[in-house]
Amino acid sequence: MVAEGLYTDKNDCNVLVMWRYSNLGNDVLMDIPIRYLGNSGLLVSAVGLGCNNFGRVDTPTFTAEGTADVMVAAIEAGINFFDTADIYGAEFGMSERLMGPVVAKAREQMVLTTKFGHTEYESPLARLGPGGSRAYIRASIDESLERLQTDYVDLYQHHTPDPRVPIEETLEALNELIDEGKVRHIGHSNYSGEQARRAQSVAKRLGLRTFVSAQNEYNLLAREAEHDILPTVQDLGLGFLPWFPLHNGLLTGKFTKDGGPENSRIMQSRHHVHAEAPWDAMERFAAFCESRRITMLEATIGWLLAVPGMSSVIAGATTVVQVRENADAAVSWSPTTREFTQIANFFPVKP
Ligand SMILES: NC(=O)c1ccc[n+]([C@@H]2O[C@H](COP(=O)([O-])OP(=O)(O)OC[C@H]3O[C@@H](n4cnc5c(N)ncnc54)[C@H](OP(=O)(O)O)[C@@H]3O)[C@@H](O)[C@H]2O)c1
Repeated sequence: MVAEGLYTDKNDCNVLVMWRYSNLGNDVLMDIPIRYLGNSGLLVSAVGLGCNNFGRVDTPTFTAEGTADVMVAAIEAGINFFDTADIYGAEFGMSERLMGPVVAKAREQMVLTTKFGHTEYESPLARLGPGGSRAYIRASIDESLERLQTDYVDLYQHHTPDPRVPIEETLEALNELIDEGKVRHIGHSNYSGEQARRAQSVAKRLGLRTFVSAQNEYNLLAREAEHDILPTVQDLGLGFLPWFPLHNGLLTGKFTKDGGPENSRIMQSRHHVHAEAPWDAMERFAAFCESRRITMLEATIGWLLAVPGMSSVIAGATTVVQVRENADAAVSWSPTTREFTQIANFFPVKP
């Protein structure tokens, strides 16, 4: 093991988690392929770590200790890309705050991204203006950086489009942050193809840095991005980051139509994901995996990585074992063109 944790307080992440590294970075246990994030020049691991489990109630990653375990295991496994947001965790800022002590120790091994301005969540900064406004953005980045214990993020993502604010204002504010060195690149999330195109043409017209990435829901059971944002991303030269890549864990193979692990997010709080799953297709997919002696997790991640334009599969994980398995799946299996189509045909894209 590369890192040894000494935890003084499981729940208080302000108490510095002390880590001993034996030259972390040279000691990664395996290599994960790295990919360019669009045209940004950023190099991200093909499997990243989605960080919305950090601070999630009833998971091992509710605590600073559990979060640090998963983050260090990710780095040891060759994952460099960490995707969080100000809203993740049981309280606003909790995921970022729990990550901070590890970021402080391992910043150079990380490509770090966070998000701001989700229009459907309450924010303590709402008094400053809407999430896409200049005043909000300027305060929001400073608070995220403080929680994350760093002075810059590699990618700052606008979490949802904000119809209350002209995109010109959002882009100008984000460009100020790039000029000030607080942010290296900017991305968007949950934008439509049209919104992505407009943002790029406005940025070019104003001589501003453009968004370099799009993050939208995408997995075998939710392929609607293929209608609009995925082709747009390729046209515009953006990187693509799929959220819910494992469909909340349903595509890991640990569920059958009769149920799954009691301690999983799906069985605890998202029963509808299980209830609404197309179990006939899931069983055909399971048989496909079995016939090739691969796990459903390997097939799911292998398939996503074969989708044109895919940058990094930002799968979430609640345990060290999960994050290692996800990292392993970046290299363990790649579909042939025929297999890629076979898998896609199990789960036809909805209109
Ligand atoms: N931009 C947006 O609007 C938006 C929205 C949602 C998510 N996101 C991003 O996308 C990331 C990924 O989404 P997500 O974490 O919600 O869902 P996900 O990646 O589809 O599923 C993750 C869940 O699957 C289970 N799992 C993961 N690896 C496993 C393994 N190897 N074996 C068995 N089970 C495994 C774990 O849940 P259990 O242990 O509970 O079963 C884990 O929490 C988020 O962390 C976040 O960064 C962005």
